[in-house]
Amino acid sequence: MKLVVYLYLSMIVLGVQAWPTVKRSFELYPNNPAMPYNVHTISDCMHVASEAGDYIFKKLTPPAAAASSPLGTALNREAALLELEAAAVVAGELEAVAGVAGGVVAPTSAEVCGLYVIGEPDTIVEITMKHYDVNCETGGLMAFVDGWELNGEYFPGIKDHHRALDERVYEFCNNYKQWPRISNKKFFRSSQNAALLQYRIPARGSFVANVRFHKITQPCNILVQDTAAVYKMANFGQARNCTLSALFPAVVSLANLRIGGKSVRAQQKVNYDCNMFPDRLEIGGSAGIDAFGMEQSSSVCGSTNEPGPEQAIFCGVTSVRLVSTGRYQNQAAVVVRKADEHDIDVATLMCAL
Ligand SMILES: *[C@@H]1O[C@H](CO)[C@@H](O)[C@H](O)[C@H]1NC(C)=O
Repeated sequence: MKLVVYLYLSMIVLGVQAWPTVKRSFELYPNNPAMPYNVHTISDCMHVASEAGDYIFKKLTPPAAAASSPLGTALNREAALLELEAAAVVAGELEAVAGVAGGVVAPTSAEVCGLYVIGEPDTIVEITMKHYDVNCETGGLMAFVDGWELNGEYFPGIKDHHRALDERVYEFCNNYKQWPRISNKKFFRSSQNAALLQYRIPARGSFVANVRFHKITQPCNILVQDTAAVYKMANFGQARNCTLSALFPAVVSLANLRIGGKSVRAQQKVNYDCNMFPDRLEIGGSAGIDAFGMEQSSSVCGSTNEPGPEQAIFCGVTSVRLVSTGRYQNQAAVVVRKADEHDIDVATLMCAL
């Protein structure tokens, strides 16, 4: 995998313009128009989706029947424990640890579940509610979130997003008391490659959400999808802070760096201690998905075309944050891969786990 990453890296250095993400093999095949339309059934409480298509959720069991099921097996006991834990968190938030692949919990009664959508780095997510039957009266509620929410924290971080949080979360349900009954087709778009459709359906209910991705030309915040890839970060001359986050401990290195003014760029070496400069690239990690207050391992500025050293961030979430005043054209190619035990040698940050 490392070899592949460096191959891609050298492609960047040679000036290839396209987003050189290391694709999973199935993504290498072009869309086959003869293929049936993608329909996915949502089965996990935390369902991560990276494909376009329809996502269907249906709950037929009345809550009484679900509650009376015996909790005999260890698996069920574990699920019950998870549920208790989840209930302790405000509004029964997802009790999923930062690792996406990890905590998969079966949907239970009043639990908040979510369809976590993630696209390519240079896309935004569009969700169209083709159908929803989520009764407000029985405590049913749905919400579209512009970003991801985990354990009460958001990606992109609340302070790092151009929209206020109440504009990023749109709640809805069916009010069957209202006459005439209106069930508007709902349509949402995210500001980055990550979006979330949350739902709490205590009684019976269902929905069909259509997911699409749209390319954008100036991506800012990026949620890392692949376990090894090169990402291009840039401010396009704007005063904005952009964060790239991976929900796993990761090894990060930089290439093709141009950050800061002329005097900073003219220096012989890349500066890894740039906290006194307003334009910089911060590398670090945190336990939760809001990277605003992350622990920093380095703060980088300067200019180079050569790949920099690798550093491993052993935290639940690894982030790279490009802070820009808008005075300069900042850009960097960031190589991210999943860290393993061999990377301890290059560790620069270990979060308390
Ligand atoms: C970017 O972040 C810095 C510090 O981390 C902050 O001072 C600045 O106000 C932020 N800029 C924007 C546009 O949010």
